[in-house]
Amino acid sequence: MKSKINVYVFYASQKGKDIIDRCLQNAHYLELKGMEKKLERFKTRALQDQPDILIIENNPTDSSLMPVLEHLSHAGLKCIVFSESNNSDQILTAFRMGAREFLIEGPQLEQSFKDAIIRLTEQRLDPQNKKAHRIALIGAKGGVGVSHLSVNLAWTLSHTFHQQTLLVDLDTSGAKDAFMLDLTPEKTFLEFASKDSHTHLSMAYQLLTHVSPNFSLLPLPENPADIENITAEQVQTVLDNLDSHHDIILLDLSHHLHELTLLGMDSARSLLLLIDPTVISVKAGIQKIQLMEKMGYDRNNIHAVINRFDRKQALGPQQLVKTLGVPVFEWLPNDEKRLTQAENTGKPVYYTYPGCKYAKKIDQIADKLLETTT
Ligand SMILES: Nc1ncnc2c1ncn2[C@@H]1O[C@H](COP(=O)(O)OP(=O)(O)OP(=O)(O)O)[C@@H](O)[C@H]1O
Ligand SMILES: [Mg+2]
Repeated sequence: MKSKINVYVFYASQKGKDIIDRCLQNAHYLELKGMEKKLERFKTRALQDQPDILIIENNPTDSSLMPVLEHLSHAGLKCIVFSESNNSDQILTAFRMGAREFLIEGPQLEQSFKDAIIRLTEQRLDPQNKKAHRIALIGAKGGVGVSHLSVNLAWTLSHTFHQQTLLVDLDTSGAKDAFMLDLTPEKTFLEFASKDSHTHLSMAYQLLTHVSPNFSLLPLPENPADIENITAEQVQTVLDNLDSHHDIILLDLSHHLHELTLLGMDSARSLLLLIDPTVISVKAGIQKIQLMEKMGYDRNNIHAVINRFDRKQALGPQQLVKTLGVPVFEWLPNDEKRLTQAENTGKPVYYTYPGCKYAKKIDQIADKLLETTT
């Protein structure tokens, strides 16, 4: 299965090449397959390799460029034309020749570039028939690795398994999924809470921050005082409105039993309970399982995940299973080096080290969760 989007570039000038390079560096889900200055060679290789996206620098002085664009578009390739000029005749000609997007150099270019890639690669869902599978993620106690699991799981579900995935950061004690992805979302639940209910239906989708194709994020605001103004009812309305746009909605919850945590647990179809292999964490995990059962959760939908199970001085696997009293859904290894590096670079572990043990286990969790949805 492919997890990155292949891109092939034609550039007409050194300046254009530098600008395209800059855009590519900030879109880490893209894989640059080549940059070509010779138009004929670009055309031949593009037709041969069939990359997901072609980026073409416009060059109005080269009369052979538009026929090449037309040829490649007719061959089914998705072309983004990039230009330093906003000349309307050139824009119109490019669209007539089959360009799917036309980007103009300026301060908004990098954002427009990301948005264009997302528009071109996003799966379109049939809103009539869609109801997302909601999965809540909660820790037995604080700091057991819920946010890392949430971000990495969202990444693999969207990239490797091509699921339209929404990650909702409902951690009332400090939403930090955006930090982990090196993003500063412009919109949060606060924008929704501040509008009157008549506009609610149309605005839920506009709150999303698009992380990469098929992967969006919606967080609580950072300020604790703002969080207090957001009600469970509002969150429920947003989730209900976003169901039809997604295959999977992941809810990153606080381990504290706040009103929004309970809503998240209550509204999810399955639940991942993260536990680390210590006596305190296992005891807290058992308490949470009992609470969930009181809330009417079917035991079969509570999936215990043991994180950092190979850490020194941890409880052994048999001891854990026996004490916990529920089957263990998956075991995640301890990998401080890679997780710390992921935090520092603002990229999921899965992105930087797709072959590491932690990433492979995330794949297995995603695979098993998808099995339970069918
Ligand atoms: N498998 C792992 N191996 C090594 N370190 C890990 C692992 N999982 C998580 N950590 C580390 O544990 C710390 C807490 O992780 P994370 O923020 O994901 O937990 P959390 O349960 O979301 O915490 P909080 O309760 O604050 O929301 C981080 O510093 C992270 O690097
Ligand atoms: Mg967290």
